[in-house]
Amino acid sequence: MSNYHEVVLRTKTKEYPIIVGRGVINDLPKFMKGFRNSKKCAVITNNVVRPLYGEFVQKLLSNAGYEAYVIEVPNGEDCKDLRVVERVYDELISYRFDRYSTVIALGGGSTGDLAGFIAATYMRGINYIQVPTTLLAQVDAAIGGKAAINHPKGKNLIGVFYHPQLVLVDVDLLKTHDFRDLRSGLAEIIKYGIIMDSEFFKYVVSNKAKLLDVSSEELLKAVLKCCEFKASIVSKDEFDREGIRAILNFGHTVGHAVETYSNFTLRHGEAVSIGMCYEAKVSAAMGFINKSVADEVCRSLSDLGLPTRIEESAEVSKLLDLMRRDKKSVGGKIAMVLLKDIGSSFLMDSVPEEVVLEVMRSW
Ligand SMILES: NC(=O)c1ccc[n+]([C@@H]2O[C@H](COP(=O)([O-])OP(=O)(O)OC[C@H]3O[C@@H](n4cnc5c(N)ncnc54)[C@H](O)[C@@H]3O)[C@@H](O)[C@H]2O)c1
Ligand SMILES: [Zn+2]
Repeated sequence: MSNYHEVVLRTKTKEYPIIVGRGVINDLPKFMKGFRNSKKCAVITNNVVRPLYGEFVQKLLSNAGYEAYVIEVPNGEDCKDLRVVERVYDELISYRFDRYSTVIALGGGSTGDLAGFIAATYMRGINYIQVPTTLLAQVDAAIGGKAAINHPKGKNLIGVFYHPQLVLVDVDLLKTHDFRDLRSGLAEIIKYGIIMDSEFFKYVVSNKAKLLDVSSEELLKAVLKCCEFKASIVSKDEFDREGIRAILNFGHTVGHAVETYSNFTLRHGEAVSIGMCYEAKVSAAMGFINKSVADEVCRSLSDLGLPTRIEESAEVSKLLDLMRRDKKSVGGKIAMVLLKDIGSSFLMDSVPEEVVLEVMRSW
């Protein structure tokens, strides 16, 4: 077996390992030995990831005695669609998948969300494994049991909480990752430092160049640390009801608005970077942190090569409207995760609109 690290995610009802390392994909069949399994597995992947790793994983499984299928779904958000879900159900039924069969999500966060939704609902729930292949999915989306698909009226509107049996994080799979996507994933990495661990924030800032090198020890270490952060948050607030898991949304109130406003030309992490800088400034405007702390947050993001500003011509009223419609908001009030310091944050469910406007205008 390759060298690996194991993070255990424990909730009230479930416990499962997150395996982090290089080359750990090769050991997938060994990690599956432990759970009750009917030898049938389906690798759900898309047309981009399939030629890179899909057939490889299928072969790995069939060599280990599994009856392994590859189910190809559309790339990106297009797969998070009820019509795709239905087609995948059709395939699973035609392969005679039963309650002990396994679904393997091989791809970024979008493939993972779709596969998780399918695993949760097919026969009221079957085995499922996450093999995330983007940085964002390795440090965030694949961990924590949230799975959702989109509705024409909104993103992630239809979903479930359903945990995998195993998350296999192989950092080597990022070697084929697009550079802009990789850098965008760094926004979610530094976010953990900003919201909950100032030491980790410093680590990211001082290793910024190495973190963009997939073969570096620093990146592996950072991914592992983020898996630990996410697992600890999820174990304390599995269903996102205690205000603990909510802090992961730092930068996302503004981030989602900016992402939508850009018509998704900005990567998610880029929009979140703009959002984090902005929300740090709101934290300062409300007196929770000094302006110098907000400036430090913004500077660290731009040092990573991430954007921190929206285009000057952006329409403030449209952005504000998008923020009011954010999922965290209740009763049309703007909810936002604010900072008490670097490494400490909380959810404020009603941020005065005057403050939001004032910061946006002076930006
Ligand atoms: N469930 C959760 O908790 C959670 C959390 C955050 C985000 N998400 C979801 O995650 C999705 C975004 O995830 P994402 O950023 O990974 O996007 P993605 O899944 O769309 O992947 C980005 C692009 O990278 C390609 N790709 C994937 N792996 C690759 C590799 N190793 N080499 C080359 N190309 C590769 C994909 O085909 C795609 O074109 C959104 O749908 C979001 O809603 C879910
Ligand atoms: Zn995010």
